[in-house]
Amino acid sequence: MRELKKGFPEDFLWGGATAANQIEGAFDEDGKGLSTSDMAAYKDPYAGESVNNFTFNVNSIELEEYLNNPDKYLFPKRWGIDFFHHYKEDIALFAEMGFKTFRLSISWPRIFPTGLEEEPNEAGLAFYDNVFDECRKYGIEPLVTMSHYEMPITLTQKYNGWVSRELISLFEKYARTLFNRYKNKVKYWITFNEMNMNLNSLYTGAGVLEDKVDNVEEAAYQASHYQFIASALAVKAGHEIIPDAKIGCMINRIESYAKTCKPEDQLQALKADQINTFYPDVQVRGEYPNYMKRFFAENNINIEVEERDFEILKEGTVDFVAFSYYMSHVTEDRPDAKEIAGKLDSPIKNPYLELTQWDWPIDPIALRISLNKLYDRYNIPLFLVENGLGAKDVVSEDGKIHDPYRIDYIKKHIIEMKEAIKDGVELMGYTTWGCIDLISCGTSQMSKRYGFIYVDQDDKGNGSLKRIPKDSFYWYKEVIASNGENLGE
Ligand code: BG6
Repeated sequence: MRELKKGFPEDFLWGGATAANQIEGAFDEDGKGLSTSDMAAYKDPYAGESVNNFTFNVNSIELEEYLNNPDKYLFPKRWGIDFFHHYKEDIALFAEMGFKTFRLSISWPRIFPTGLEEEPNEAGLAFYDNVFDECRKYGIEPLVTMSHYEMPITLTQKYNGWVSRELISLFEKYARTLFNRYKNKVKYWITFNEMNMNLNSLYTGAGVLEDKVDNVEEAAYQASHYQFIASALAVKAGHEIIPDAKIGCMINRIESYAKTCKPEDQLQALKADQINTFYPDVQVRGEYPNYMKRFFAENNINIEVEERDFEILKEGTVDFVAFSYYMSHVTEDRPDAKEIAGKLDSPIKNPYLELTQWDWPIDPIALRISLNKLYDRYNIPLFLVENGLGAKDVVSEDGKIHDPYRIDYIKKHIIEMKEAIKDGVELMGYTTWGCIDLISCGTSQMSKRYGFIYVDQDDKGNGSLKRIPKDSFYWYKEVIASNGENLGE
């Protein structure tokens, strides 16, 4: 039996998280190829009905237009926060906060510009060498996502992304290149960011143009299947090349509550939960769960599989389950329940919860529930690799950024994490999302800020890019120094 824990373990990995496509900029420097995320054109979020005017789905007509007339549009993810040229300064600030780990992703088209080359782009590889060396200088352990919502756009044009089996070997080549190159610098890896994104935006998660497939739902599961195989092959290769590597899978965890104790609502909550845990179920156990076989049969989902796939899944099971956590959802028995399950925007509101400025429900207790459920289900370590508050920050007259709302949000989540650890959950670490302000994935806004570090830039890309620590910067520094004991009043 594991000993009773009173708080965060000594080796707990405190830190922050980012993604290449939201921070790097330099979208065409040093031989980098265009990526799927380079096509997310800015749309005024306030012009739509919702503040969540998602910009991340691109169809084939838009893609042609963006490729042919790039000057007519703004593409914020192409400039990011120019981490490419500021990484030394940014990592020094992370070190000042006492980060033990820094989650970042590698841009696939920086390494293989079209994804099809036999040889990698040396300048791209060298950039990440420098970034990892800089981390190591301060004793910061890099946590690397291989594919965080971007891939070479050529693979979308040529194969329509992950609906093609061809992508598996291309990804394996990419993964092996990374493991071989960084084997002495990176121990913690995640193959794909939030794989269940495929059910929200197939373009974002898998580079698939939805208007080019007959059945979007079937395509989402087909793409997921190929990603499962690619991920398992990568895990297997990673373990061979770096014997002490820890390689995880990742989902966007949404805790689903039933609206009432009506049995039909409860059953619906169970089904919503299964849609969410489907991904780690496959990647931890190395096989498809039975509930999914029924789901496929009843929804007429027929995906192409090969016999050997199932051996590969077994050979490439993960070492830990990583997840992001932002919100809980409410489910009920209604005709569109299946469509709503797992979607970012839920029409059913929870009257007990406050919302962020982007209408995301704030629910720290659901984090404790999720941690317990996931650990009970998998019995392998968990890693909370994203969590945070997107908010509009204001630079005060004193030149500072006072963000008590962010401190409050993160503090409440840390309290629940600690409770879950006391419940017996094995949690490896916590990397808050957007530890430095970055471009929003969903809306391509700069003004949706998550960071402890403010970056002077607006939604249109104007600004000095100056970095300014916010009040939360100094607060988080104290949290890390006290290993989660001192959370302020
Ligand atoms: C996660 C993604 O789903 O949510 C990140 O992995 C993203 O890339 C984060 O930035 C927050 O979402 P948004 O839309 O507020 O940027």
